[in-house]
Parts: sequence; structure tokens; C-alpha cells
Amino acid sequence: MNRIEVLRQYIDEILLNMTDVEERRCAYLHLYGVAQSCALIALKRGENAELATMAGMLHDIYSYAKMDTKDHAHKGSILARDILTSLNVTNEHETKMICDAIYSHSDKVLAHSNFDEVLKDADVLQHCLYNPLFEIKPHEKDRYEKLKSEFGIVDFKYWRMEQYD
Ligand SMILES: [Fe+2]
Repeated sequence: MNRIEVLRQYIDEILLNMTDVEERRCAYLHLYGVAQSCALIALKRGENAELATMAGMLHDIYSYAKMDTKDHAHKGSILARDILTSLNVTNEHETKMICDAIYSHSDKVLAHSNFDEVLKDADVLQHCLYNPLFEIKPHEKDRYEKLKSEFGIVDFKYWRMEQYD
């Protein structure tokens, strides 16, 4: 089993223990969705797609494990380090890359390292693509517009049918 799957097995255990069924659904969708978006963006930008996928799986695990979103990026980077250390799947450099990205992922205004930016953009992409008819949140608009242009996506409002709005 490769280390992405080792990590997923561990994370699935945490998610399966969530008692709130709706929150559990959100957790699966978001963590797997962000991980997949991380892979896509990392591959496009020549960043490490394996580590980016792992960062995506771990990035909000603190929120879901503790049911507490306050300061979850900073606290989550500590939890992610604990998890990676206990699984023994990364070296120190890789652990630092993943945990640094998680630490800064809530700060969507500033730009951090190229690897850190993959996670932030993947977080935005998952939110925005969950339902392309939903209104884009103001703080995610900028990044989403840049992502659409990076992936050559034209404004897709033309296929929106008024009766479904
Ligand atoms: Fe997130």
C-alpha cells in the first residue's frame, strides 16, 4: 500500500468515528476533494503531487476530529505532524513541507511558497466546484478566477439556465 493510502486508512478511521452524519459527509467530501484538487494543481505546476495529496487529506483533520474550527490551521499542523510521525511515512523535510502548508492554508490573502499555494488553491477549488451554481464567497473569488484562467476555463455562466437559479 502506498503512503497516500496508508494515510487515508488512518484518516478514514477518524472520520468514521464522527457521530454527526452530515458533518461526516462534509468531511469526506472536503478532504478527499481537496486532496484530489491538490494532485491536479500540483501536477499542473510541477509540484510534488504525492505530498500535496497528503497535505489535502490532512489539512482540516483537526476541525473534524475535534469539531472545532478555531485556529484549526495552526493546531492542525501540529496534529498532522503527530499523525505523520506515528505513521512513519515521511522524512523530516517532507513532514515540514506538509505541515507548513497546513499551517498557512487559512491565510488566503498572502502568498506563501509554491507548495503551500497548491493547498490553498485546492481548498478554494473544492469549495467552488462542490456546486458550480452556488455563489462564490467573496474571499475566494480572486483565487478562483486565477485558477479558472490557469486551467483555461472560460466563464461558464452561458450554460446556466435561469429557471434553475
Ligand atoms: Fe479546507
